[in-house]
Amino acid sequence: MADFQNELKAMTPPSDTGNGCRVFIETYGCQMNAYDSQAINGLLENDGFEAAPNIYDADVVLLNTCSIRELAEHKITSRVGEIRRQRRNADLPPVNIGICGCMAERLGNELHKGVNRVDLVVGVDSYDKLPALLADLTKSSPTKHRKLTATGHRNDAHYVAPPSLYPVNNSHLVTIHKGCDYKCTYCIVPYTRGPQSEKSPEAIEAEIRSLVDSGAQEVTLLGQNVTAYNWQKNLDFAALLERVSDIDGLERIRFLTGHPKDMHPHTMDAIGSLEKVCPWLHLPIQSGSNAILKRMKRLYKREEYLDMVDYARKAIPGATFSTDIIVGFPGETEEDFQATLEILRLVKYDQIFSFKYSERPGVPAAKLADNVSLDEKKRRLAGILSLQEEIWNTEATRQVGETWTGIVETAARQKGFWRVRTANNRKFLVADDHQKIGDEVSAVITGFNNTTFLTVE
Ligand code: SAH
Ligand code: SF4
Ligand code: F3S
Repeated sequence: MADFQNELKAMTPPSDTGNGCRVFIETYGCQMNAYDSQAINGLLENDGFEAAPNIYDADVVLLNTCSIRELAEHKITSRVGEIRRQRRNADLPPVNIGICGCMAERLGNELHKGVNRVDLVVGVDSYDKLPALLADLTKSSPTKHRKLTATGHRNDAHYVAPPSLYPVNNSHLVTIHKGCDYKCTYCIVPYTRGPQSEKSPEAIEAEIRSLVDSGAQEVTLLGQNVTAYNWQKNLDFAALLERVSDIDGLERIRFLTGHPKDMHPHTMDAIGSLEKVCPWLHLPIQSGSNAILKRMKRLYKREEYLDMVDYARKAIPGATFSTDIIVGFPGETEEDFQATLEILRLVKYDQIFSFKYSERPGVPAAKLADNVSLDEKKRRLAGILSLQEEIWNTEATRQVGETWTGIVETAARQKGFWRVRTANNRKFLVADDHQKIGDEVSAVITGFNNTTFLTVE
């Protein structure tokens, strides 16, 4: 059993290893990385490093990376070159660059090779080694190439991000488990993040209590498959939601991402009945075709997914849904694609995140011919997006005239407005009337612009 209380967070007493060395972390990928970057900052500050505000004021730049699609990795490789150029153009000396996150885990020592090589590679379960590695790295000049690497999975490597000054949209991220035990055939995550390993409910409660003590109202429970949370096969996600709901002072609980296979009726009953739990379900379907779902090893059929959505609508008042979709999975026919479009018409999602299939080295689907052409993938992606827009426009129009209540999250891009989020994850703008972040506001919906609702005539 992983004894979380003795794990990595403040496990080491404060030290001055960092000696004021300034570290800037640039974060890519999913919220798990956003959380990890906060945790790394916490670990480093504990050891006498300082958080730098940008690449120009940094002694070390860490890129916390994502491997989910080929493009995500390409971006990082070119970003390394770009950082070096930007520093040169600003007449600054070379900087040490390190790669953390999923690419570090997937590629390891490979990242020490090539034009855009880096000196430091630290995988997702090795962040506790960062202070020592950085101290070692910064002893030598950034022009001298070093090959420092720490990778490999450890069940006990659970990090705790200290309360952040910059919660994501007023919601504090709390990772409740790491890794993934599913093996969806297209997905690199089980390889980069390793097997699923839970934080204990006590540790999660303690972490949330400390967030609430420092002013948090809302948390987002994070994991690749939060619905598969099952501490010692004895306390599942529904039970965890109950425990977290009991925390005094905490007002709202969101969670990301649930796997449809583990979204059981009793889990939906808990979401629906616990007042603090927000009625928004992000449930990636990936494809609406049973043949493709089978080849993806998603472990549910479209009928089961649709039954689950029906159940959720009954059990969770006001529930909204969002999803992820992959187009152009190996062998996806026009008929398979049409079956996915039909799911959009049936579920009427608030939001979809759709991606062109990207072959990842070493995953089971890499053995299948990537035989849907790029042009066809683009066409299908455009088809998905335009159908979603049409469906959403009808759904959103029906909201006009309703009065919504939500929490002020952030200043809107439009000057003089705040962005507000409802419990079921809808966003609306309100004119600035001296509100502040965290305030509850109500307004009548007058229109919408994409997925953002408007409240002025
Ligand atoms: N754990 C979540 C999602 C993790 S990754 C789940 O089980 O659904 C986020 C999304 O990236 C996935 O839902 C999927 O739609 C997309 N994705 C993952 N691997 C991909 C690949 N090889 N090509 C294209 N999209 C991919
Ligand atoms: Fe990837 Fe599937 Fe695990 Fe999600 S459930 S992280 S898609 S393997
Ligand atoms: Fe990307 Fe790793 Fe998250 S591959 S999506 S950063 S788990």
